[in-house]
Formats: sequence, structure tokens, C-alpha cells
Amino acid sequence: MTSRSHQLRCIGDGERIIPDAVSSDFRDRTTGELYEVEYPWSESSAEPAANRPNAQALRHLWAERRDSTLPIDQSGVWRYRELLPILKDDHHAVTLREGNTPLYDLPRTARLLGLDFLLAKHQGMNPTGSFKDTGMTAALSVAAERGFQWVACASTGNTSAAMAAYAARAGLRAIVFIPEGKIAWGKLSQSMDYGALTVQLQTDFDGCVKMLAELVRRHPIYLLNSVNPYRLEGQKTPAIEMCEQLDWQVPDHVIVPGGNLANGSALGKGFGELKHLGFIDRVPKISVIQAEGANPLFQWFTNAEKLLQPVTADTRATAIRIGNPASWRKAARVIEATGGWCEQASEQEIAVAKAQIGAEGIGCEPASAVTLAGLKKLHAQGRVQPGERVVLLLTGHTLKDPEYTIDFHKNLLATGVDEAEPYRKPPMVLPADEATVLRALEAEMAVTA
Ligand code: F0G
Repeated sequence: MTSRSHQLRCIGDGERIIPDAVSSDFRDRTTGELYEVEYPWSESSAEPAANRPNAQALRHLWAERRDSTLPIDQSGVWRYRELLPILKDDHHAVTLREGNTPLYDLPRTARLLGLDFLLAKHQGMNPTGSFKDTGMTAALSVAAERGFQWVACASTGNTSAAMAAYAARAGLRAIVFIPEGKIAWGKLSQSMDYGALTVQLQTDFDGCVKMLAELVRRHPIYLLNSVNPYRLEGQKTPAIEMCEQLDWQVPDHVIVPGGNLANGSALGKGFGELKHLGFIDRVPKISVIQAEGANPLFQWFTNAEKLLQPVTADTRATAIRIGNPASWRKAARVIEATGGWCEQASEQEIAVAKAQIGAEGIGCEPASAVTLAGLKKLHAQGRVQPGERVVLLLTGHTLKDPEYTIDFHKNLLATGVDEAEPYRKPPMVLPADEATVLRALEAEMAVTA
């Protein structure tokens, strides 16, 4: 594949540029809007649809690749490389065998809500523990192929962990900007473990983004935030994987957390392309759920203003503590085009939902749990029917933020919320005395018998 296999299309005025002409901040110089990757076979493309991918043949080829020993075939992103021809040579892909994440059922939660079934696509089961790996393998491979020595991102913790890992694999240097004191320890430790230059700025995520824009304007450093459209090419692949796992049956509704709002946008692009190419005959509704303390898109939907009003963000779900999301316009379009909704979840609702996903033996980080909190609301509003096949997109692993989990069980979160009580399991601290231990455990067993 050559780099001519795709171009970048501005989502504002639709103008197209060749990939090499893009500015360092990935924004159109006239409109200030973001780009999306467009292929000759894309629905928006003005070119004749030569070499349009063949759905039937590709389904077969992708299934066959599951038995391959080639790293790019074992990757749950590059296995679908015909739908993301962004590299000059696919063998340049920097991969940690990302993707390949499980689609679990959540039977207890489904029963609790009165749904026939409920599924969770657990993107926290990626190599660095979050969905960011699928986008990072794509965009960092582009950086490496184009000869960049340095890459950088601003992050609430998961992007930085992913970028640091993939940069280390490729032998590139990485600079991470994170808001001081506002990211989970697990994520901060990953960035250091993988050898990134880690800068804790005394500001929030939105302040980190501004600082980074200055840095990449002055130096040849490749920006790996989700304004980089190649990130979304990787992040669209869970849509493909999900359909494959469901034997090409489309779910009715996919629910994702909303922070910087790239993920919902990417999944929307993925499902849209699958439909356009004839892999599936309809797309699912895509709904985005924000934390109440970081809800600019929710506010935009309820007020129907023309422009997004940034907010000062605050939530213990630190991954989505973002007040001025870059990809809001892309996400809003996906929600509207698919017939989904934007909802918000309170801190208490997030904590209870996270405990319920934990009680399924799966677990996730707080930002991922907004999906279940949002589903409860959509269900109560009659927007989700019992027979619908709903998929929650769980974005991060439960071990990313153990402090949050411990605080919940110690009754420091969702305090006084009745719904939370059955899920609290604080550790018992006992003397190492046989009789005392047995007595205490027997009392517990009698309660739950
Ligand atoms: N869930 C988790 C666990 C995240 O880390 C993020 C974003 C989101 C959801 C929201 O996804 O931004 O595409 O809407 N984390 C970014 C980061 C911002 O820096 O790690 P989004």
C-alpha cells in the first residue's frame, strides 16, 4: 500500500489534503476542525470505488489469520488491516498483539435491570490495560514509519501508558504531560515503567493539551492525542471484532464512556464502514455517557447550542475528567446519525455501577462504569427495551485504579447510598488466632447461607 491509499478529510468543510500536508496539531488551518482518514472506498470519497474491499472474502481471510503466527495477524487491530491501509508497509506495524478482547455476558446485571441479556466488550483486557492500545498501535506505527524520533501526548493516564509502551517497543522517545495529582497511580507507574519522559503539570488535562500544542509547534515531535486521526483508525477495530464475535449479527445498542470523545467517534466510523462495505446491514445505536462533573457534551445535547461550552471538570473517574473535549463534533454526529443518546452519571451512580461490574467477576475502572450507570437511565427512560442486544464498552482494567475500589469498600465513596451496601466487602482485620478467625468466618457464612 502507498500513502496515496488514503487522504485526510476535514470534518468542517470537507476539504481533502495529502497526509504529509497535515499541520503538527492535526487541525485544519482555516476551519480549526479535525480530520478523518478517508479511503478511495469510503462513503464520503469522491473517487471511483476501485478496489473496494470485498466483505465475503475478507470475513474468510480474517478468520484464517487467527491461526497465523505472524505478529500482524495475531494483532486484533492489524488482522483487519484491509480496512485501515494507513502504512506504506503493514509489516512496519508496531504491535503488542492488542485487540482480541473478550465479549462477556453480564447475566446478574441483566437480571437486575430486567433485560434479556447484556454484553460487555472488555477493552481493558488490552496489553496496557485500556482501549487506547488499539489506537496507539495504529498512530504510533505511522510515526515510526515516517521517521519521527519523538512522540508526545497529554493524558488522563491511559493514553500515556499506551503511548509509552508502544514508543518503547519501536525505540522512539516519548514525552507525557499529565495533570499532577489527578491520575490513578497504576497509570502513572506504567508511563515510568515503559521509560517515558513523564511531566506532571500543575494544571488539568485541558491545560496539558494547550502546553502540548505549543511543544509540537516548535519541535518535530509527533502528536499522539486522539486529534490524530490515525488513532481513530485503530480504535474503530473493536466494532469489527465485536461483529465478528457475534457472527456478524449487529448489536442493537453500544454504550461508551465519553471523555475527549474520540472513542464513540471511532466506533461510529467502524460500524459505518462495515455497513457501507456490506459486512452488516444496519448500524447499532451509539450512546455516550459522561460523568456529571465533566459533561460538556451532555449539556450541549440538552441545550442544543451551536457550540460546545467547555466546563471545569471534576470527577473521581479521572480518565474522563475532561472539560473541553477535542472530538465533540465527531461524537455528536455519530450519536445523531445512529439514533443514540448522550447521558450523564453522578459520582454515586458510577461507584455503584463499578461495584456491580466487579461483582460479575469482570471489573473495570471507574470511567468504564459510566456505561452501566447510563444504561440504567436509558432503560428507565424507555430508550432501551428488554429484548435489545446492548453492549457496554468497558475501556479500562480494574487494576488501573485500585485506590478507587478500596475507597468504595471502605465506605468512602457512595456513602449512605442503599444500593451500594450489598456490594461493600471491606477487608476483615483479625488477630492471627484460630478461634477468633473461625468464629468470624462462621458468622459471615451463616449470614450468606
Ligand atoms: N475510559 C477510559 C478508561 C479512558 O482512559 C478514557 C480516555 C475514556 C474512557 C474516554 O475516551 O476520550 O475517547 O472519550 N482517556 C484519555 C487518556 C483522555 O488520556 O487516557 P475518549
